[in-house]
Amino acid sequence: EKGGYDYFMLKEIAEQPHAVAETLLGRLNEHGDLLLDEVRLSDQDLRDVDKVFIVACGTAYHSGMVAKYAIEHWTRIPCEVELASEFRYRDPVLDRSTLVVAISQSGETMDTLMALRHAKEQKARVLAICNTNGSTIPRESDAVLYTHAGPEIAVASTKAFLTQLVACYLVGLHLAQVRGVKYADEVAAVVAQLQEMPKKVEQVLSTMEPIRELARELAEAKSVLFIGRHVSYPVALEGALKLKELAYMHAEGFAAGELKHGPIALIDKGTPVVCVVPSPRGRGVLHDKVVSNIQEVRARGARTIVIAEEGDTAVAPYADHLFYVPVTPTLLAPLVTTVPLQVLACEIAAARGHDVDQPRNLAKSVTVE
Ligand code: BG6
Repeated sequence: EKGGYDYFMLKEIAEQPHAVAETLLGRLNEHGDLLLDEVRLSDQDLRDVDKVFIVACGTAYHSGMVAKYAIEHWTRIPCEVELASEFRYRDPVLDRSTLVVAISQSGETMDTLMALRHAKEQKARVLAICNTNGSTIPRESDAVLYTHAGPEIAVASTKAFLTQLVACYLVGLHLAQVRGVKYADEVAAVVAQLQEMPKKVEQVLSTMEPIRELARELAEAKSVLFIGRHVSYPVALEGALKLKELAYMHAEGFAAGELKHGPIALIDKGTPVVCVVPSPRGRGVLHDKVVSNIQEVRARGARTIVIAEEGDTAVAPYADHLFYVPVTPTLLAPLVTTVPLQVLACEIAAARGHDVDQPRNLAKSVTVE
């Protein structure tokens, strides 16, 4: 049932191109309108939205962090991302023009469900992004977009994460379209870029051998740090989370620009630092800033493991290990840059002799608060 793979996690990592393609299937109608799965909200309700909150836990929360960039950029509606377990306890400002997006693979996570119920009590509209048909969170929501990742068995989430990203992009585009900020042709253009992603994820998967070799070298490291900016910041957090969950190692993700305000003190001779570099096209300034962040950590002894876009030669002199991912629009880049970090965590855990699919102390779905 593991389809020839040693672990479900490796199988699920390999299924990602298919999962992404399935989640994108049939989303545009003949007028170029984006379609969600279940909508019990009118277009007018969506036009009235003046604030978006995203609530989620763990890996799903990281997809929400990426979503914030896309949703604000495309819709110009302010968007906050919040850990579901914190949300209702701080009395957030909610009313009927607030849209709360709950992201959950299982649809049963109690923290996320309670955040959703709190939002509904305050009359907010609730949209669910979920991988499990008919589970509690989508049943209690006003609108649903299902991710079609297929069942995820490994406790650590991989393919569900990539499909959550896709779903978030689709929700952002849908909101922008309904509100008249983006038109059918612009939406179709981004959807076309998204349709390229399964192929790009496939390309990344075909180049993972050097990551596996590196993983064996890093198996004894005391701590691994991850840095990124913009949408690569949540990718850094996700890379660190995967390593904690699977390898039981100290791992932390940082916004690269924040390093100098404290965390750089952690860097010692040989400390592995995984650096997720934005594309040098588009937001070029950001790229150069990350390159200088990499120089800074390297000057303090870090062993730099760099994930960069194909053709990015500027970063090469500062990379002890350099892995290229295909050229991708900035907002969509997490779909490719996350993959090597999943493989790295999985292989480090395996090298340390851990059960990759069933990490200690963790459950696939946590139904207590
Ligand atoms: C955690 C799981 O308990 O719940 C994580 O171990 C997961 O892998 C998180 O990301 C959220 O789960 P869900 O089902 O709400 O996406």
